[in-house]
Amino acid sequence: MSKLYAVSDLHVGSPDNRQAVAGLAARPEDWLIVAGDVGERFEDVRWAIERLRDRFQKVIWVPGNHELWTLPGDPHHTRGEERYQELVEMCRGLDVLTPEDPYPVWRAPGEEPTVLAPLFLLYDYSFRPPGLSKEQAVARAAGSGVLCGDELLLHPDPHPSREAWCEARLQLSARRLAEVPERYRLVPISHFPLRLEPAVLARIPMFSLWCGSRATEDWHRRFRARVVVSGHLHLPGTTWRDGVRFEEVSFGYPRDRARGGSSGLRLREVLPAEGFADADTDADTGVDLDRAVGPGAAPLPE
Ligand SMILES: [Fe+2]
Ligand SMILES: [Fe+2]
Repeated sequence: MSKLYAVSDLHVGSPDNRQAVAGLAARPEDWLIVAGDVGERFEDVRWAIERLRDRFQKVIWVPGNHELWTLPGDPHHTRGEERYQELVEMCRGLDVLTPEDPYPVWRAPGEEPTVLAPLFLLYDYSFRPPGLSKEQAVARAAGSGVLCGDELLLHPDPHPSREAWCEARLQLSARRLAEVPERYRLVPISHFPLRLEPAVLARIPMFSLWCGSRATEDWHRRFRARVVVSGHLHLPGTTWRDGVRFEEVSFGYPRDRARGGSSGLRLREVLPAEGFADADTDADTGVDLDRAVGPGAAPLPE
């Protein structure tokens, strides 16, 4: 049976990670979600997407923050929206689906047809602690030694700010999600987590500023999510909320895996995932099934 897998944060600028992608076995019947942070340099991203496309029946990509960086020395020096559109066109040229394409329906024998919704949402600093302005929160984060590289490298052009770009993406995405016929449940796919709770990392709580938006806190209920797929935190694992399964599918840097994660490139099975009956828990405690890294040892995402 065809399966739907997911992975994110391949960061192929790291030689170990590049090797892991190069060595990935083909699964010609299966689909793969690539949930952002493939790499920083445009040609690195293309290299990895091409390899993955060769090995799967269908590949779906959403951007992470790293793809949107404009690095000094990268011949592709486009910024912001223009860079995003270039990445979309590159993917389309490789027959890879993006957030700008119609949402595909995943079907398998005996399985509920499910709409896959690749989303590009970004973040708007609303995951900051209450009572602080964005500027105060960023200053506090920087003072504690945490400053996301996005502040220097992820340009929002032509939007006036990253939060304005995020707002535009939230509106567009909510509109498209609302158009999905009610008979379908969905798999929302975003590099950035939809909910605040998992984004407050034990070791670096202020990093949550660059992780998402409070506007998506209820999207798993509002848009009939069957499974939610995200990355960015470099904390792979499965949690449950309101009977919905949330999969954090990061591969991460070698140093993340050295802290307790798996060293091999493990793809997360999103569907059918027979081990998981849908809504087999209504726990609001976020049951942590196989988080690879425990509290206090949170890896540093970038
Ligand atoms: Fe990452
Ligand atoms: Fe990221």
